[in-house]
Order: sequence, then C-alpha cells, then structure tokens
Amino acid sequence: MCGIIGYVGERQAVPVLLYGLQRLEYRGYDSAGIAVITPASNRLIVEKQVGKIKDLQEKLWNKKIEGHIGLGHSRWATHGAPTIENAHPHTSKSEIISIVHNGIIENYIELKKQLEEKGYKFKSQTDSEVIAHLFEDLYEENLLKTAFKVAGKLEGAYAVGIISTKEPDTIVAIKKGSPLVIGLGKNENFIASDIPAVLEYTKDFIVLEDGEIAKITKDKVEVYDLKGNKVKKEILHVNWDVSVAEKAGFKHFMEKEIHEQPRVVSDTISGFTSSKESGLFEELKNASRIYIIACGTSFHAGLVGKFWIEKFAKIPVEVDYASEYRYRDKIIDDKTFVIGISQSGETADTRFALLDAKKEGAKTLGIVNVVGSSLSREADYTLYTYCGPEIGVAATKTFTAQLVVLLLTALEVGLKKKVLPQDKYEDIYQHLLAIPSKIEKILLKNKTIKEISYKYMNAKDFLFLGRNINYPIALEGSLKLKEISYIHAEGYPAGEMKHGPIALIDENMPVVAVAPKDNFYEKMISNIQEVKARKGKVISVATENDEQIKDLSNNVIYIPKTINELYPLLSVIPLQLLSYHIAALLGKDVDQPRNLAKTVTVE
Ligand code: F6R
Repeated sequence: MCGIIGYVGERQAVPVLLYGLQRLEYRGYDSAGIAVITPASNRLIVEKQVGKIKDLQEKLWNKKIEGHIGLGHSRWATHGAPTIENAHPHTSKSEIISIVHNGIIENYIELKKQLEEKGYKFKSQTDSEVIAHLFEDLYEENLLKTAFKVAGKLEGAYAVGIISTKEPDTIVAIKKGSPLVIGLGKNENFIASDIPAVLEYTKDFIVLEDGEIAKITKDKVEVYDLKGNKVKKEILHVNWDVSVAEKAGFKHFMEKEIHEQPRVVSDTISGFTSSKESGLFEELKNASRIYIIACGTSFHAGLVGKFWIEKFAKIPVEVDYASEYRYRDKIIDDKTFVIGISQSGETADTRFALLDAKKEGAKTLGIVNVVGSSLSREADYTLYTYCGPEIGVAATKTFTAQLVVLLLTALEVGLKKKVLPQDKYEDIYQHLLAIPSKIEKILLKNKTIKEISYKYMNAKDFLFLGRNINYPIALEGSLKLKEISYIHAEGYPAGEMKHGPIALIDENMPVVAVAPKDNFYEKMISNIQEVKARKGKVISVATENDEQIKDLSNNVIYIPKTINELYPLLSVIPLQLLSYHIAALLGKDVDQPRNLAKTVTVE
C-alpha cells in the first residue's frame, strides 16, 4: 500500500506534494519521492529518499525546485526492498515521462521481459517501473491516448499518475483496484490516494471508479471509461477537518483498520497469487513436520493455520509461543520447516527463535507485513500480508491477512503434494474470494455490536468459547478485549469449560460463544446450555438464519454463511468490533493501550 499525489496549478508544486505526502505517510513510509517539470528547461526533476517524508523534506531543504506540475509518492515496499532505485516516481528511458503507482502489477514479469527485449533497461526491482517504460514505448499523440493503450496491457490493481515533458500542463491518472481521487481547486487540480492528502486545498472531489482514466489540467478535468467514452462525474463535497480525515472519519485507527479488512483480504489474495514463491512450496511439500512460532495475535493466526495445513497439506504442525519454542529441545532435521509469523517482522522473540531453528538446520519461512523488516531478511523465504501500515497497537487487519496467507499456503502445498484434489482447491478458493463482501456485511452490524457492547461494558470478566478451528478465534477475542479495555478475559476451548472455568460462571459473567453452523455446532449448543443453566449471559456469534441459537442467547451477532473451514475469517470480525466498542465506550486509549508497544523488540 503506497500513497500517491499529483498537482497542477499556479502554486509551486513541491510544497503541495510534500504536504500531501505527509498526510499519506500512514499508507507507507519506507521511501518517498517527487517528480516536477521545471518550466525553465522543460525537464523532469526527480528527487527520492529512503526513509520517512521528513527525510525527503530534509533532502530538499536547500534545493530550489521550481515548477507548477508534479507527482509525489510515499512507498510501502511490496516488490523490491526500500532503496532509492525502488522508490517512486519512476522515469521512462529517455526521461520524458514520470509515473507514480499504488497497487500491484500482476503481469509485470511478462511485460518487463517484452520491454527488455526492446532495449529498455530497468533500474529498479519494482513492478511499477514497467508502467513508465510502457508509456514511452506505446506513446502516440498524447498521454491520454497512450493511457488507454497502457491500461489495456496492465493486469492487477493500480492507481497511477503520469506526467510528461511532452505535455507539461497535464496529469493523466488511471485507476483500477487501488483508490484515487481528484481534488478540484480554482486554477489548480490534484490527484491523491485519499481525500486527506489535499483537504488543505479543496473540499470538492471526484472519486474515480475502476476502469476510469482522467486528464487533469489546472482548469479542466475530463474522465473517460476504458472505451474512450466521456464519463460525467458527480462532485463530492466533504466537510471533514484534516485530523478526522486522517482516520477516514473513524474515531480511532483501530476502528478504521477493522473496516479495512475487506480490502486487505482482497489485496493479500492477489498479492499471494502474483508473488508465488514456487521454490518455497516445493520445499514445504517435502516437509515432514512444521513448527509455527509467533507471539500474541500472530500466534493465534498460527493456531488456525495448523488446522488448515494438517487438513489440506497433511503435514503435522506444532504451534508454539516463540518465547517458549526458543528454549525448548527442538526436534529438527533437514525436513523440518519453521514458520515465523510476525506483523512487524521485528518481534525479538519470534526472530531469535526462528534464527536458532535455522542454525539447527530447519528451513524457515517468515509471514510478515512490513517489507524489508528483520524477519523478512532473516528467513529463507518470506510471504507478505498486504495490509499497509497497522497503526492501532491491537492487531486486527494483519490477523485476517495472516489467516489468508496461511490458508493459501496450505492449499498450494496440498495441491502440489496431490493430497488436495484440484476441484476442492478451486471450491475453497472461490469461497475465499467471497470473504471480503461477507466481511462488509458483518461491518454493517457495527451499530448493533456497539449496542451490545454498551450492555456489557461494565463486566469485570469475560469468557470466550469456541471449538476446533474457531477455538483460536475465542483466544483472539479475549486477547483483543483485555489489551484495549483492561477487562479480564479468558479464551477457552468450549469442551474444556466443564473441567474448571465453569466454576466462574454466574449471572455477572458474559460468555461469548463462537458458534457458526459447522460440524461442531451441536456440541457448542450443549456448551451454551451449560452456561445458561448457570445464569451466564450468552453473546453468540452465529450463522445467519440460525433461529435455534437465538432462544439460548441473550444476544446474537450473525455472520454470513461460508464453508466450515473459512469461518475464522468471519467470526473474528464481530469480536474485534465488540472489544473496540467496549474500550471506546469506557474511554480507554484504544490505539495506544497502556504498557503495550506496536513492536516488541525485547525478549
Ligand atoms: C495483539 C498484538 C500483539 C502482537 C504481538 C506480535 O493485538 O498486537 O499480541 O500480535 O506482539 O507482534 P508481531 O506480529 O509484530 O510479531
């Protein structure tokens, strides 16, 4: 996830671009750059810097770059490490065209090969650079005309801004899959990944839809569909102030990040598909045993992953807290695979445990969100979650994305091992593709979940129950609640409740039962009966149209139907919202809970 911005108008472009990039920094902050066309020499001036926007600002401090049209980019690396070469904007061979890109070009390897055969030299490892060369290669008459040809070649998700010295008064923008808005000013116009980036200058916007191409000059904006027909766009007038807008209208980053999950799941599916590490799956196929090591929420993702890998790839999996695994007597041979899961890729416990196992001869894989992080460099292989930066300390969107990567890995290995039939693979994959819209449906219940939260916010303890693949979701629900609301909560396998925790249940104890209609439904119903019999308050997470559970529960939060194996991707969402609302209603510091840090680099 990156941020893009563009300006054309009467102001100096550089300060506008830098201001916008600062507001977009939450989308990525490993490198940044700008490209401006100077009117004096009609040349493209490109400046880039590794690091944060402030590092780019420092670099530009003494440089006088004049120009009234330009592009800016703040990068969150996907293809290629965070280096100057990989930073945007990218420039075409004869330095007449510059582009910024947010998204993933899935067919870039094929396009790169074709361009290299024509003599184009690539300076970066990015997928994005192909766009700059394609524009030069296919250039005909003007940028707009060329954009239709380029869009016809690109596969994947993208929002692209393009400028050229051949038309020093025009920005062309293309959108498919990644967000892009056009800010409308007086004698000036803007493009940006989101509204806050230019809210300082205008409150009027055009939101581009997928498959639209725009030509933007300082006093005119024209939008076309891919067939070249002009599209009449409505103007959106916003009345947010800048600070609210950074959170896209949400009160906290955590709430915003919970709501980003439909996009994150889609991006992670396409990211996984476009960057399949075939060597990895070949090796995993032959693994005799897998250890998954992680901490906190990532550990819970690992517990779900165990079910999938054992079921679809038929490899035995042990999941361990990294801090425990490190000091165990590990049984490692050359067929042992250790998977470290870490959003940050910097968690000391996970990194060191993985490094120890690697030293002892295990093959290692990191599942990581932050590109270029230590774990991604230390593991033999890396698979990424495509979430963008997670700012709220409590992990939400990265958890669902970790699940997606684990599921796709299990399916891929199962297929390669021939223990998972192709039609079963296809079936699960199709159901996975439907998950983002099902998450959207759950998010529409936000208000109901807030009302339920209000009812239980003063409870002193909570119990979360689940079975089988939804047991780790009960653990995750309880972790979310305790870390941001400071209410004591425990997650338990529902069948274990009768062996101890049942003693805690009385009329003051809310019990959250994760009970979708899967193979364990009847058993969950029996466990809910046991809670009811002791006057506990039952909040059920159940499959829509389940009337039976309604009679047994004080409150039910419905989730859409999916196949049994995929329920964790849905059942966790109401639990995140429940915790969020309880903490927010209690007035806690949701995004930065006490005593915690987003990245824990100590043992
Ligand atoms: C909980 C949470 C933590 C992290 C844990 C591991 O919401 O965020 O439990 O999951 O500290 O962090 P990573 O995944 O960065 O290794």
